[in-house]
Amino acid sequence: PLPAMEQEDGTKQDLGSLHGMPLFRSFIEGWPQVKAFQARPDDLLICTYPKSGTTWLSEIMDMIYHNGDAEKCQRDAIYNRVPFLEMKVSKGPSGVEQLENTPSPRLVKTHLPVQLLPTSFWEKDCKIIYMARNPKDVVISYYYFYKMGKIHPDPSSKAEFLENFMAGKVVYGSWYDHVRGWWEKRQEKNILYVFYEDMKKDPKREIQKILQFLGKKLAEETVEKILHHTSFQEMRKNPAANYETMPFTFMDHSISPFFRKGISGDWKNHFTVAQNERFDQHYQEHMAGSDLHFQME
Ligand code: A3P
Repeated sequence: PLPAMEQEDGTKQDLGSLHGMPLFRSFIEGWPQVKAFQARPDDLLICTYPKSGTTWLSEIMDMIYHNGDAEKCQRDAIYNRVPFLEMKVSKGPSGVEQLENTPSPRLVKTHLPVQLLPTSFWEKDCKIIYMARNPKDVVISYYYFYKMGKIHPDPSSKAEFLENFMAGKVVYGSWYDHVRGWWEKRQEKNILYVFYEDMKKDPKREIQKILQFLGKKLAEETVEKILHHTSFQEMRKNPAANYETMPFTFMDHSISPFFRKGISGDWKNHFTVAQNERFDQHYQEHMAGSDLHFQME
């Protein structure tokens, strides 16, 4: 355990376990409130494994909800416009408290695996959009996020972090269980499953899929506005989206910016040939029997 002073700042936490899933101790402390969370039928849940494009999808959703009005979407930082359900640190309101004070229709962000989602979301039959990203890019993005997001434990070396990621010994546990769990669930529930790689290749088509899922129609020029406003280049310089307003005690963008690269296939600049072979083998074993497929670039 760390000295109280350090935890007070929201800096480095060692991880606890929530039903076997590694998670920040402060989040675990807040778990009873999350478990009992009262979803509303018109809540829209944005669900991802960390570093899979959560912020991107959140900005797209807020723009859709505000009919492409970029100014309205600058009313507050993304982490306040789309509260993070299970977030709890010692200072400031928890995600649950933020959500309780958010008028409907709410956008809700979570990284929870399917089996830990508060039951109320199922009971109210809330719409859910799940966004997945290939694990090689996720692990690299996550490694840099561990370094800049000061609440995380030390990621150690890239090689060691890669091992921990494969073993599910990182915050939110196994990527495999996460993407597969939500993939299976989409057969019985109101879930739209989208991929980061598809969003990169053809964001317009993906936004149209989202609109169809929401049963919403937007004018062509509104969709164009959303596309422009949510591009990597625009978002990275938008203080309401780029996390630079987050206190320095939580994120240090000088170590690695939150908007780091925003591309598919950056893992090639980081994996050794041996690591890639090992990863491919592990991937095949852990995705065996699934019809869920990823584009690695
Ligand atoms: P990289 O670290 O690979 O650059 P999350 O929001 O889930 O934490 O995911 C963060 C990742 O999404 C980062 O990946 C970030 O650069 C990328 N990202 C954020 N906004 C994006 C956008 N508009 N287009 C493409 N990638 C984006």
